[in-house]
Amino acid sequence: MGSRRAQPASGRVDAQPRRRRRRAARRALVVGSGLGDDAEHVASLGFDTLAFDVSPTAIANIARTVAPGGTLLVISGAREEGEPVDDPPPWPLTPAEIDAFAAGALRMVGLEKRHNPDFPRARFWRAEYGRPAV
Ligand SMILES: C[S@@+](CC[C@H](N)C(=O)[O-])C[C@H]1O[C@@H](n2cnc3c(N)ncnc32)[C@H](O)[C@@H]1O
Repeated sequence: MGSRRAQPASGRVDAQPRRRRRRAARRALVVGSGLGDDAEHVASLGFDTLAFDVSPTAIANIARTVAPGGTLLVISGAREEGEPVDDPPPWPLTPAEIDAFAAGALRMVGLEKRHNPDFPRARFWRAEYGRPAV
């Protein structure tokens, strides 16, 4: 995702013996992903990784990690401005929140709002942001 490569916040994943990781269950959820170091590490191990964070600041700062010429893809639940959230996180993003990723050098280059026909109330953003190459 970004140009930054840091160590995961802890050795939690590496502490798990490799032989116990079954191919049949290669999905991971990173709660409190911050800038995404743990999520990148877990994904690099081959897990289909979903990461979220409750902090808008943490999420917005992810935009700063995109390399020149790179792309940030955000796929998230969607809700209207002021629409209440009843469920625990991850919360669907409002239009203002999805716009907020276009900060600094990042520009939104695509935005789609999709509906899941199986769950009519469920709405999703697919937003793409680009950082120009220098
Ligand atoms: C120590 S940082 C995590 C660092 C991150 N895992 C990484 O790879 O760099 C803890 C993060 O947990 C988030 N957090 C705290 N409570 C949370 C909650 N209830 N749901 C989601 N994220 C939460 C904070 O916003 C913060 O970004």
